Amino acid sequence: MPVTIILGAQWGDEGKGRAVDWLSGQADIAARATGGDNAGHTLNVGDNLLKLHLVPSGVLHPNVTCVMGNGMVINPVNLVKELDKLAASGLDITPGRILLSTRAHITTPAHIAQDAAQEQALGSEKIGTTLRGIGPTYLDKIGRRGLRAAEMADLETFAEKLEASLIRADASLVRDGYPALDIKGSVAAYVEAAAKLRPYLTDTTAYLNERLKAGARVVCEGAQGAMLDIDFGSYPFVTSSSPTVGGTLTGLGFGPKYVDRVVGVAKTYSTRVGGGPMPSELLDELGDRLRGTGANFWDEYGTTTGRPRRCGWLDMVVLRYSCAVNGFTELVMTKLDILSGFEEVRICVAYDIDGQRYEYLPARIEDVARATPVYETLPGWSEDITGVRRMADLPTNARRYIERIAQLADTPVNVVSVGPERDQLVFA
Ligand code: GDP
Ligand code: IMO
Ligand code: MG
Repeated sequence: MPVTIILGAQWGDEGKGRAVDWLSGQADIAARATGGDNAGHTLNVGDNLLKLHLVPSGVLHPNVTCVMGNGMVINPVNLVKELDKLAASGLDITPGRILLSTRAHITTPAHIAQDAAQEQALGSEKIGTTLRGIGPTYLDKIGRRGLRAAEMADLETFAEKLEASLIRADASLVRDGYPALDIKGSVAAYVEAAAKLRPYLTDTTAYLNERLKAGARVVCEGAQGAMLDIDFGSYPFVTSSSPTVGGTLTGLGFGPKYVDRVVGVAKTYSTRVGGGPMPSELLDELGDRLRGTGANFWDEYGTTTGRPRRCGWLDMVVLRYSCAVNGFTELVMTKLDILSGFEEVRICVAYDIDGQRYEYLPARIEDVARATPVYETLPGWSEDITGVRRMADLPTNARRYIERIAQLADTPVNVVSVGPERDQLVFA
């Protein structure tokens, strides 16, 4: 410590929430830097099953202050709903314990309608977004016409500015043949939410810098993953923020001098929701086996949208690239229990594109779409490993699989998870 950054190393849903919950046990502050309620982070502690979208996953630790940073995009109505749910399950959500950056941007009903309209217009080429209005919100931010959370401090001007932006968006939506917005209803709902969120508004950059100077330990929670990054991901099949290491610093507002750990979270296989190429995807019964039946909450069905996730073997081209882009000091490899019972396990170590070998991710999406995976095959294991807590107690082939990943990634794997429960972690 003082600052540990935790990031998704693949296409999201790697198990960042549980990694943040684990590391928050040693922290004073848990902070989200990027994304919005497109994220879905699952925590499973005893009978408590929490699905968080905006509030950081440190929330289960009573002494941890939760910060929603300036790089985030916030749907105020959904944030109020999430806070109400947390309060109902007995968690402390008082202002001061939960802080919302005055510089975060606000997702409006216009952004949600625009997201749906853009996806509809793309037809079969659609991104497969979460339809939470994320892209249009960041577009307005970059276009210098967005509404920031600070506006919620003055309900009257907030209502005026929101209404003006909805009227503007409505005109072009209707012109293009999409349904009209409920402007009056939306403004009323947003003003009601803003009134509830006002006490949470904080200059979180000033707060974090003061606390860091005083020696506080901060865990930064990434959303999404490197392959969904606007710069480094599989563009255009990406989200509209920077869920890699640089985005964490701009999304919270402190310098790199405080950061001493950058933890990459990756599944021991690959999953992706939404469109875009995925060379190691398994479209056969092996893929179905990885996906599960949907009967358990940890099966591969989206936390936010409920969509089945596309599943495949571990893609080392992606993980190697993600390690480079983020400079991970270590990896947490999740869901090793799911691979128990496979006769053999495979790692995609390179892409073959028109007879040429690529160990690094190519930029052009057409190239990735044409890539065939080059596999290395390792022997599987059949033992139930959900009760294992030390690396030395893993079956030899499971340990070899993890060791091979660390070697190929040139990054140590310090922790492996073998089940969704808080304590189902395997340490060296
Ligand atoms: P995040 O978005 O990166 O926080 O990940 P999600 O919460 O969207 O998805 C991860 C899913 O896998 C959740 O349902 C977790 O409960 C589950 N999970 C995490 N680690 C493990 C593990 O080691 N084994 C199993 N079986 N499930 C896990
Ligand atoms: P967490 O934090 C997995 C994907 C969407 C889509 C693309 C763009 O839980 O890992 P967006 O709504 O952001 O414009 O969608 O990004 N996506 C995610 N996939 N996990 C997430 O978050 C995701 N957030 C966005 O499926 O392909
Ligand atoms: Mg998720």
